[in-house]
Amino acid sequence: MRQQSDLMKESGPAPLHTVDIIRRKRDGLALDDREIKFMADGAADGSIPVEQLAAWLMAAWIRGLSLEETRALTIAMRDSGEKFSTARLGKMAVDKHSTGGVGDKTSFLIAPLTAVCGVAVPMISGRALGHTGGTLDKLESIPGYRTSLSLSEFETVLLKCGASIVSQTPSLVPADRVLYALRDRTGTVENPGLICASILSKKLAAGLDALVLDVKTGSGAFLRKRDDGEYLAALMVATAEAAGTRTVALLTDMGQPLGRTAGNWIELVEAVDLMRGLRPAESEDLRELSLILAGWMIHLGGQAQTPEAGYARAEAALMDGTAVRNFFLMIEAQGGDVSVFDNPKGFHKPGATAVLNAWESGYIAEMDTTKIGWAVQRLGAGREKAGEPVDPHAGIDFKARRGAWVEKGQEIATLYATMPAMLPEPIALLKDAITMSSTIPNAVPLVGRIFTRETATHHLQNAVR
Ligand code: URA
Repeated sequence: MRQQSDLMKESGPAPLHTVDIIRRKRDGLALDDREIKFMADGAADGSIPVEQLAAWLMAAWIRGLSLEETRALTIAMRDSGEKFSTARLGKMAVDKHSTGGVGDKTSFLIAPLTAVCGVAVPMISGRALGHTGGTLDKLESIPGYRTSLSLSEFETVLLKCGASIVSQTPSLVPADRVLYALRDRTGTVENPGLICASILSKKLAAGLDALVLDVKTGSGAFLRKRDDGEYLAALMVATAEAAGTRTVALLTDMGQPLGRTAGNWIELVEAVDLMRGLRPAESEDLRELSLILAGWMIHLGGQAQTPEAGYARAEAALMDGTAVRNFFLMIEAQGGDVSVFDNPKGFHKPGATAVLNAWESGYIAEMDTTKIGWAVQRLGAGREKAGEPVDPHAGIDFKARRGAWVEKGQEIATLYATMPAMLPEPIALLKDAITMSSTIPNAVPLVGRIFTRETATHHLQNAVR
């Protein structure tokens, strides 16, 4: 533990002072590697008080981080704790990470699909952030599931199952553990440099051979505009490649929730249903995106010549039941009780339920997915304060999606809340988020541009920021 004092925190040419670093960033000046490492280490070991970290994050959010600052922050956060070594796994280690979405449950499919195809998936995930859901919060709906493992436990699960999904810990990427939760509470999430450093610090600490990034764009993304999404994708690919990890980024649509559910337990059930061979039309985008991302991972992990061949291998594992068996094996290895999947409806016990019916006939033309995400969080699926428990049963089940025709009075969605008093605000948010139209909306492609090392560097060179 370093001294609490603000003076003489570092040995080195000149003492650094937190307040000077905040003021320099506030005034739009660039920070050097040493100053950035000082802030990341101070977040990790608790020696910089939370109000100074918050002020610095806000200054960075408003002023932005340059490419050099983003790279320095990524590396400093990666190095803020221990690193995982994949050497003993005996296979290539590949992971995917999304920039955050609503109803985004692809990890539950991707981890087992990729693992059964011979690639190790050491996945360090996050909790609910802003309006988006968190993989860890969803997994903790399963009684007993432990997200916080020691590095040796993480390795044991990986050796047994090929995949493990865990959280940051006080020893694994501790800087992100602190800054992630603080960004959630201080309105400092939606910034390309901060998102890049947060995601890549976790991924680079996991010792990956390759990484697939799912960069969301559209109304539910942190960076809604396509140009901003493309910049973030290029920034992350270039930063990860410079740190030695082969990386591709796919720009994908978050103009509506992914799949038919958004919440905690209900999202796990949707993913398991797909792995059990069910194929509802409302889950088709989830199925397709999971297979595309897994296909890339299997390809980059050396188990398929092309991403398309990887897709075919992943699809076979989805259909023959090997993926769901592997998923349950991983849950058990992390202490979870898989018997809850014997009767998923019986396990689902929301405190209050409401149905939103169509208030007029028409096509569902647009879904403001950020508003929908806040509706889900306020039903109880997310937290107001750091460390609060989330309600595993809260969420929204969509009966109609973008492009569907609905008759007046037809059910659009069912909302599940912790208690009746928590229903009115999310119902109003959901209604406000949906735009009806008499004309059918244009179809939006699920996957847009794909960035590799070459295209990312070129894009960054030409990007006007
Ligand atoms: N996921 C992360 O891990 N960090 C972010 O900042 C956004 C999404």
